[in-house]
Amino acid sequence: MTATQLPVQQVYSVQWAGDIRGCLQLIDQTLLPLQLKVLSLSTIEETFEAIVTLRVRGAPAIGIAAAYGVVLGFQKALHGSTVSESREIAFQACDYLATSRPTAVNLFWALDRMRAVVERNKNLAEPADIAQALLREARLIHDEDRRMCHAIGEFGAQLLEDNSGVLTHCNTGGLATSEYGTALSAIFTAQDQGKNLHVYADETRPLLQGSRLTAWELQQRQVPCTVICDSMAAQVMREGKIQAVIVGADRITARGDTANKIGTYGVAVLAKHHNIPFYVAAPRSTFDLSIVSGDDIPIEQRKADEIVNGFGRQTAPSGIEVYNPAFDVTPAELITAIVTERGIIAPVCEENVRGCIG
Ligand code: MRU
Repeated sequence: MTATQLPVQQVYSVQWAGDIRGCLQLIDQTLLPLQLKVLSLSTIEETFEAIVTLRVRGAPAIGIAAAYGVVLGFQKALHGSTVSESREIAFQACDYLATSRPTAVNLFWALDRMRAVVERNKNLAEPADIAQALLREARLIHDEDRRMCHAIGEFGAQLLEDNSGVLTHCNTGGLATSEYGTALSAIFTAQDQGKNLHVYADETRPLLQGSRLTAWELQQRQVPCTVICDSMAAQVMREGKIQAVIVGADRITARGDTANKIGTYGVAVLAKHHNIPFYVAAPRSTFDLSIVSGDDIPIEQRKADEIVNGFGRQTAPSGIEVYNPAFDVTPAELITAIVTERGIIAPVCEENVRGCIG
């Protein structure tokens, strides 16, 4: 793994450099906002580690990184494997990456597409031809995400009023996607249209994606932003500062129940109480129509240290019991609308979700 320091304008969360023997470049998001460093990953194991440790994070970005990770894993098939051995290497790469993080369905969606490429290209003569097909598919996933983010921005911006306060949770911008983002794309697009918004960014305990990443992205684009502790959302709503909430998603079921960063559910309950619309923005790669109830979404459990020893300082007694679910599920009835690249789903119910996405 090598690291390069680059000016902001030149970087994307995830990039592939070179041909089938190339490498995966990504911003190390664990270092932001203090350092903007681009890592060059040349193995599937490094990709796995980058996903698990959240160097690359955010549902769409995880899917894109994993697709390129399969290409990295497949590179060993270019050293004398038969076609049938190389197919096995590709499937093993997909299975391995699928164990990195359980909640964001974009990961499994992208890996299924990579598996389907191997299936479709049974008759290719050389592993190098399969590698070309895999890289083409990873690039397609990446390009499609770019288009989906911009379309979500166009639809989402319609929901945000000029001169309003918007609360968001976690990070849903260019860092979490190919570029521009999902929920933040709506905010950026509204700003591009000349709307004047003030964003309240929940800091998003325990890993602070809101204060470290969202605040950084908003500052880069000169969107007025105030960081608040997660526990302040109720007070800020009560003070009348928030006219809309917009968040991203890691997995949305057929009836619209939505898994997103831990704390999102609480924000939705607060929004309901204060009569503030609560919007979710996500591409079709985040929908899992194979399940209906949010109770069936697997919730990632992360290490205790993220809570009691975050950012290098112990903040609870040694040996204390800790519970650290990384996501929660907001039930569909608390969601005013879901913004997708295909349009706005409202009211949020199974018929409308399947009608838009299915
Ligand atoms: O654990 P993370 O940082 O990967 O969680 C990210 C989120 O919960 C985002 O809100 C979600 O992936 C949407 S990103 C467009």
